[in-house]
Amino acid sequence: MTSGTTGAAAALADLPPSPAVWCSGLRKRYGRQTAVEDVSFSVARGEVLGLLGPNGAGKTSVIKMLLGLVRPDAGEVLLLGRRASDPRSRSAVGYLPELFRYQPWLTPREVLDLHVRLAKADVRASERQECLALVGLADRAGDRVGGFSKGMQQRLGLAVALVARPELVVLDEPTSALDPIGRVDVRDLVLALKSRGVAVLLNSHLIGEVERVCDRVVILDKGRVAASGTLAELLGQREVRLRLAGVDGRIEDRLRAAGSLTRSGDWFTVQLTADDDGVTVPDLVRDLVGLGVAVHAVEPVRISLEERLLAVLRHDEPTAEGTQR
Ligand SMILES: Nc1ncnc2c1ncn2[C@@H]1O[C@H](COP(=O)(O)OP(=O)(O)OP(=O)(O)O)[C@@H](O)[C@H]1O
Ligand SMILES: [Mg+2]
Repeated sequence: MTSGTTGAAAALADLPPSPAVWCSGLRKRYGRQTAVEDVSFSVARGEVLGLLGPNGAGKTSVIKMLLGLVRPDAGEVLLLGRRASDPRSRSAVGYLPELFRYQPWLTPREVLDLHVRLAKADVRASERQECLALVGLADRAGDRVGGFSKGMQQRLGLAVALVARPELVVLDEPTSALDPIGRVDVRDLVLALKSRGVAVLLNSHLIGEVERVCDRVVILDKGRVAASGTLAELLGQREVRLRLAGVDGRIEDRLRAAGSLTRSGDWFTVQLTADDDGVTVPDLVRDLVGLGVAVHAVEPVRISLEERLLAVLRHDEPTAEGTQR
C-alpha cells in the first residue's frame, strides 16, 4: 500500500464520500518493537467494524493513531472526512478508551456534564440522564465514581462515549468488565447506533459478541492486517446439510457432483468447493426434486468467527474468502 499523498488521493477517489474512518499505510514502532505495520482499512457511515487480534497485535495502537492520541510513523488518517491533525475531526467522535479512570470525587452526572462541555455539545440534562439510564446507571447518577465497581466504571465510560451524539463511536474493549446482561446491553446499544447511521469501530476479545454485531472484521496479527472482510466473506458457506428421503446410488452421484459427501442416516453433508459461485446449492436442490427425492431440510453450515480467527492466526486457513495476506 502506498503511503504517499498521491496514493492516498487516488484511493480516496474510489471511496464513497467521507467514510467515518479511512486510514492508509499506518505504521508505528516503539524502539525496535513494531506495533503496527502497513495497516489500511475504512469504516463506512452506519457500519460496525470489529478489530480483532491477540494481545499485543496492535489494536489499541491503531485506535490511538486514528484518534490522534499517538502520532503514526507513517500513514494517513481521515475521520469523518477530515484529516486527523484537524481537531474538528474528533468533535463528533465518541471514544471509550481501553484503560481509563474518572475523577473519583465526581458523580456520573458531573462526569457527563464535564464531557458535554468539553465537546461543546448542546445536550439537555434530561438527555444526559437518559444516557446514564441507557448504560444502567440511572439510580447511581448522584453517587461518587470512586466507589464504583469496575463494570460500573466501564458503563460510565460508555455513557461518556455516547453522550455528545457522536457520528462515530470507537470502543476499545467495551465489555471486558461487564456482566452477561451488560454485554447484551452493549450489543443492543451498538445495533441501535448502527440503525441511526452512527459508525462503530470496536475491539473485543469476546469473539461471539463481535460476530453478533459487526458487519465487517479486520484481523490484526503482529501489527499487520492478517485478514479482513465481511462476515459472509470470512465465514462463508462452506458446507450444506440436507435431510433427504428416497436416495439411491444415482442421487448420491448427483450429490457428489456438488462436493465431497458424507452421510449419516437421512442427513447428507456436502462440502462445497472454495470457488462455489452461489449456484451449486440451488442447482442441486432443483435436480434432487426433479429426480423425485423428498427434500426435508437444507441447512448451511457456517464456521464460527472464533474458528476462523484461530485458523488465520495459526496460518492454516486456505485463502478462499475475504482478503488475506
Ligand atoms: N507506549 C508504548 N511504549 C512501548 N511499546 C508500546 C506502547 N504502546 C504499545 N506498545 C507495544 O505495541 C504493541 C501493540 O500494543 P497494543 O496495545 O496496540 O496491542 P493490542 O492489540 O491492543 O493488545 P491487547 O489485546 O492486549 O489490548 C505491543 O507489543 C506493545 O508492547
Ligand atoms: Mg488493546
